[in-house]
Amino acid sequence: MTGESSSSRLRVAVLFGGRSGEHEISLLSARSVMAALDPAKYEILPVGITHQGDWVVGENVLDALEQNRLEGLEPAFIFPEPNRPGLYVLRDGQAVKIADVDMYFPVLHGTFGEDGTIQGLFELADVAYVGAGVLGSSLGMDKGVFKDVMRANDIPVVDWIILRRSEIEKDLPAAVQRAEALGPYPLFTKPANLGSSVGVTKCKSRADLIEGLKQAAAFDRRILVERGVEGAREIEVSVLGNDDPIASVCGEILPSREFYSYEAKYLDGTSGLIIPAEIPLETAERIRELAVRAYKAIDCAGMARADFFLERNTGQVFLNELNTIPGFTRISMYPKLWNASGILYPELVDRLIQLALERKAERDVTVREYRRGE
Ligand SMILES: Nc1ncnc2c1ncn2[C@@H]1O[C@H](COP(=O)(O)OP(=O)(O)O)[C@@H](O)[C@H]1O
Ligand SMILES: [Mg+2]
Repeated sequence: MTGESSSSRLRVAVLFGGRSGEHEISLLSARSVMAALDPAKYEILPVGITHQGDWVVGENVLDALEQNRLEGLEPAFIFPEPNRPGLYVLRDGQAVKIADVDMYFPVLHGTFGEDGTIQGLFELADVAYVGAGVLGSSLGMDKGVFKDVMRANDIPVVDWIILRRSEIEKDLPAAVQRAEALGPYPLFTKPANLGSSVGVTKCKSRADLIEGLKQAAAFDRRILVERGVEGAREIEVSVLGNDDPIASVCGEILPSREFYSYEAKYLDGTSGLIIPAEIPLETAERIRELAVRAYKAIDCAGMARADFFLERNTGQVFLNELNTIPGFTRISMYPKLWNASGILYPELVDRLIQLALERKAERDVTVREYRRGE
């Protein structure tokens, strides 16, 4: 991190890593984002967050996190208050300000990055940041409440129930009975608040269901059971914007395994992306329209990738989830869909920063205090 900062450049603190199962994916996404930020326009301040949740800065901090080599890095932090802006380090027990920051760019996936928690810190500090706010982030993260909101907005989702860990522990047969009432196997079990398919099981029998419930319960207090969509085609669309979001062309995922599991996403390297998706024009239009409506329904901002299931036999479309900080490497679906829709990667990053500034400006005109009689 260099001290000289030309005042005309926007100082963007890029946060990556994080206390999440998607830590490594975040590092990959951040590498691409930082490479795309035009150095003539932006001064990049890389901030790593370790697996333990420590914020660190220093020489080549991204490489250091990738190689799990943390010596020599300095503990970093921001104050959760508007009147002490900027990035600080802890040096000999003293808080030392090392940089002014115009914008925070959380390139963090999953827990403590995509779920509204770090967004809460940014709100307290009253700083500009890329992406959805507290509400949009947390609604995007919780698969259960997310579906409640979709139902309320007439956006089709697959039937589901929520089970609490305590219910499963206390009365497993009752939990199984509630799950089986959803319909015939296969059923899917998932932790309500996770990503990257961690803890997701396709259950083809009662024995699988019991195992799946236990697995999901290890990762979350709240467990989702869902009807399995027969031969689900997985169609994704990218959304960009604040109050007037736009949708990209649709893409299709061809998982390398029976479903789009963690292994299929990150280990095999053979899951295919088809852009644009080979689906009827009306279906694509409907999916794009649903994506924008869902985005508005959770008060999303900046970006999200909307993931759908297209039932092979019936042609019915279901919204599965909105990811508010989708994978962002150059070969990830979110930027690739924009690329195919005419917005190249560096422009996409520019737009996200612009949208964050607009959102901040809107926050700045919001009245915080009501004084009677003034
Ligand atoms: N109800 C379902 N029917 C068919 N396949 C499903 C269903 N739910 C999940 N899957 C499969 O599991 C994958 C991961 O589930 P998802 O809900 O997207 O969790 P995550 O947030 O971890 O990506 C999906 O991409 C899909 O392949
Ligand atoms: Mg998913």
